[in-house]
Amino acid sequence: ILPAVSARKGQAFHFGSTYDTTEAPQSWFDTMFESFFKHVVSENGCKWDATEPEQGVSNLTECQACRSFATARGNSFRGHNTFWHQQMPAWLPGNFTASELVGNIIPQHVKQEIGGMGPSVTSWDVVNEVVGDNATTGMTALQCVLSKADWPTVTADGSGIPLVKDLSFVYAAFSTAFATAGPNTRLAVNDYNTGGQDAKTECEIALIKSIHENTHIPFDRLAIGFQSHLTAAVGGFYTKSELATTFSTLAKLGVEAMITEMDIELATNSTAFLRYQAAIWGDYLDACLYASNCNEFINWDPRDDLSWRGLPAAATLFDGEGNPKPAAYEVAARLENFAAGKPEPCS
Ligand code: G3I
Repeated sequence: ILPAVSARKGQAFHFGSTYDTTEAPQSWFDTMFESFFKHVVSENGCKWDATEPEQGVSNLTECQACRSFATARGNSFRGHNTFWHQQMPAWLPGNFTASELVGNIIPQHVKQEIGGMGPSVTSWDVVNEVVGDNATTGMTALQCVLSKADWPTVTADGSGIPLVKDLSFVYAAFSTAFATAGPNTRLAVNDYNTGGQDAKTECEIALIKSIHENTHIPFDRLAIGFQSHLTAAVGGFYTKSELATTFSTLAKLGVEAMITEMDIELATNSTAFLRYQAAIWGDYLDACLYASNCNEFINWDPRDDLSWRGLPAAATLFDGEGNPKPAAYEVAARLENFAAGKPEPCS
């Protein structure tokens, strides 16, 4: 179906899931990434603790192994991530001044990772989860980032000085990514609880504009990743029209929108909730399919027993034995509908 989806879109549409080589059963992954998922994101193998376990020593073994897994099946590969306040290497927090981090440590890391992975990566999460959960409407990009409550203390230039004093770490990461990545690789800010008309989403848009203004990276190389870790409950997800409004705001700028980490926790694993989950999944997929600027859709963890949200949350497309759930059938139906040239279904 996916080649026909791409044909209608007029550009490659990347639909896939996370993978890491340690995950089992491998035969299930082999089958699924040959038949259903055609795009690979390493769940943990491209994060900073994995890729620079010792300062200055690049280790892209797992990140590259995941890309090789993709390539061997004709799949594309996206990079997650070069900077995140979690899963940082042990040598980093507390040992460097802000100017060392911005001037040297962060750019060097971004360069060795993005450069080492080469130009074929579809997009990189250059910075992950840098906006606060309690951001309020009208904040500047810096206020949005400063409002994040859980910044670690990662500098050595005094007691308790957090990494974030200004946005120079973001600009340094993006400038280096732009100088290093392939010409078709999109550079993303990626975050959760975003997608609608709300303060946190406004912050993502303010941040991407600020990156553009300060680094001069063209808008058509930038992206916002909407993680979409959802809950099948009132208020646990955005409506299709809310997503469409946000995606279209970005399209006017030339910025790509991506669904980067989709999963939906169930309140209860009943048939009714499985159908509710399927309907939300289908709407998110349609919001992406029918938007001109949404071309990557990634499901976070391919099956319930491997999900970071735990098996009882039943948050993925396939159950704990790897069997398709209603949401998997719904996804296939929405892809087929789009590929067949049909109009967008109602919510
Ligand atoms: O690799 C170590 C292993 O050496 C050790 O023995 C084992 C013992 O617990 O831990 C292993 O590390 C775990 C790692 O996954 C690899 O399996 C960590 O404990 C565990 O915390 C880590 O969880 C990952 C989590 O990010 C970290 O915060 C999840 O798999 C991963 O799905 C999750 O993904 C994040 C995205 O990157 C960003 N957005 C949110 C999303 C969900 O939290």
